[in-house]
Amino acid sequence: MCGIVAYIGPRQAYPIILKGLKRLEYRGYDSAGVALLNSGLKVYKKKGKVADLEETLVGKDLHATIGIGHTRWATHGEPSDRNAHPHVSANGKLSMIHNGIIENYGQLKQELENKGYTFSSDTDTEILLKFIEDIQINNKSGLEEAVRIALKRVVGAYVIVIIDEDNPDTLIAARKGSPLVIGIGKGEHFLASDATPIIEYTKEVVYVNDYELAIIKSDELILKNLGNEKVTPFIQKLDLELAAIEKGGYDHFMLKEIFEQPDTIFDCLRGRLDAEAGTITMAGVQNHIEQFKNANRIIIIACGTSWHAGLIAEYIFEELCRTPVEVEYASEFRYRNPVIHKGDVIIAISQSGETADTIVAIEKAKEHGAFIFGVVNAVGSSIARISHAGAYTHAGPEIGVASTKAFTGQLVVLMMIALKVAIEKKTIDQKRYLHLLNELQELPDKITLMLREKDAIRAVANKYKDATDSLYLGRGYNFPVALEGALKLKEISYIHAEGYPAAEMKHGPIALVQETLPVVFVATKDSYHEKIVSNIQEIKARKGKVIAVITAGDEIITKMADDVISVPEADEIVAPVLSTIPMQLLAYYIGVAKGYDVDKPRNLAKSVTVE
Ligand code: M6R
Repeated sequence: MCGIVAYIGPRQAYPIILKGLKRLEYRGYDSAGVALLNSGLKVYKKKGKVADLEETLVGKDLHATIGIGHTRWATHGEPSDRNAHPHVSANGKLSMIHNGIIENYGQLKQELENKGYTFSSDTDTEILLKFIEDIQINNKSGLEEAVRIALKRVVGAYVIVIIDEDNPDTLIAARKGSPLVIGIGKGEHFLASDATPIIEYTKEVVYVNDYELAIIKSDELILKNLGNEKVTPFIQKLDLELAAIEKGGYDHFMLKEIFEQPDTIFDCLRGRLDAEAGTITMAGVQNHIEQFKNANRIIIIACGTSWHAGLIAEYIFEELCRTPVEVEYASEFRYRNPVIHKGDVIIAISQSGETADTIVAIEKAKEHGAFIFGVVNAVGSSIARISHAGAYTHAGPEIGVASTKAFTGQLVVLMMIALKVAIEKKTIDQKRYLHLLNELQELPDKITLMLREKDAIRAVANKYKDATDSLYLGRGYNFPVALEGALKLKEISYIHAEGYPAAEMKHGPIALVQETLPVVFVATKDSYHEKIVSNIQEIKARKGKVIAVITAGDEIITKMADDVISVPEADEIVAPVLSTIPMQLLAYYIGVAKGYDVDKPRNLAKSVTVE
């Protein structure tokens, strides 16, 4: 949450920061601001999106070769001009941007108020900045030392970047729990929450680690730990192209990302799955195969859409590997006193690799000696780095706030892991194993086919766009798909949507069913088909409107449902990858028909780096 950008070097900082903020807007869009140093500190901030800030700055003198910028997802204090970052110290010389949450802000604020400080915002950020300033004044220390002392007192998560009017050739940055990437150019440095604002200038980057402080000049980068010892920066080459983070002719990133799925699934399978040879090559799994084979239990931890991927994986691992699986919300797991044994395998699933709750849950499981396997999309992200082993989903950057291609990538990776473990464990016979490899291999073509149904799905979306409530129902492997469909609709169209196991519906939610209630059934042909047909009848008997996602050619459901969306035939284990796509398109087209900004739905942020 919150995007930060900073620049120091020979170029004009403002255009670089502005462009960077636009790229990071997916992380929060409640307000935006910049601070520039050029014979004095100039700070500009505005409630709303980056474009609103840009508009107010037309005609202003924005010349500066050092600056910081921020796009906010509000935590402390409502979205407003005064709560927008950057914040300024009491003496007006320091300016700071922050991503994260300072948990002991109340205590720090009290200490500062006792000394006579006042505050012009409701943010924890302003408190931290004034706390740093106070140390700087009282200890007569330099800014670097003051930051170090202050951060030792801070409880919470942060990335901060500070500029100082008295030191206009230096940026000071620090990280704990929120991401910070530094791009290394020729005589210049770029800082950002992820690599997207950086790639068009340089591909050489350093991912700053927790408890590290960076002292950055145009031509120098010094990393230190909080004990003031130097740390050697680990310079990596970015494997990312500019085209991957642009819309490429689509109206929205979300639509582009939905349509990329044949390619992202292909990339996910490439070099791993060889259906002819009957092999799955995944070094992360192979190197730890005994752990997987002997696991007493697999615990999957994740949030949101990634949690839904975990639920589908639960069905698959239990079916194919005969290993008990528990799927946990990371936010609950981290605060429970969970029973974790040394032999447990933890699979942590995350698109961003930066979700705060998932990171802390991993750390907790690690303390108990569990083996952590990360299924992550963002290469080099925190979760990728703190896991013992892992597999990337290779879906490429996902910019739309609603997760789409990352989810199907997660499913495919999890399916491959389950198959690899099952064949090693001998809990699957060779014939079924080979059949499932073929089914996985055929997915990109089947997705291409199904995306051709987009106009039919748009027509369904237009028919139901004015609904105020909806139910999403599925059974077995398709139950989590129903949950995911409901989440997508809520996020993008603001229509209340509830996902339920179809049979559970009669234990309560059926009371909602009436003529105006659309009920989306995920009802592809699988071992639950007959049962779900009965559930559809139960809804029809109460005059609910049924939209059914079916396997192409399913005459039975076609006759019963008000609207059907067909997906190609597939084995029930891989079918969720296909049945998810109509859910994504339905939500997308309803959101667009209602005139909403589907890439930046209200109140949300792509990367939830606060708990
Ligand atoms: O980056 P992660 O996969 O860890 O994120 C988890 C959730 O925040 C995320 O899936 C969220 O629910 C999405 N907005 C869903 O579309």
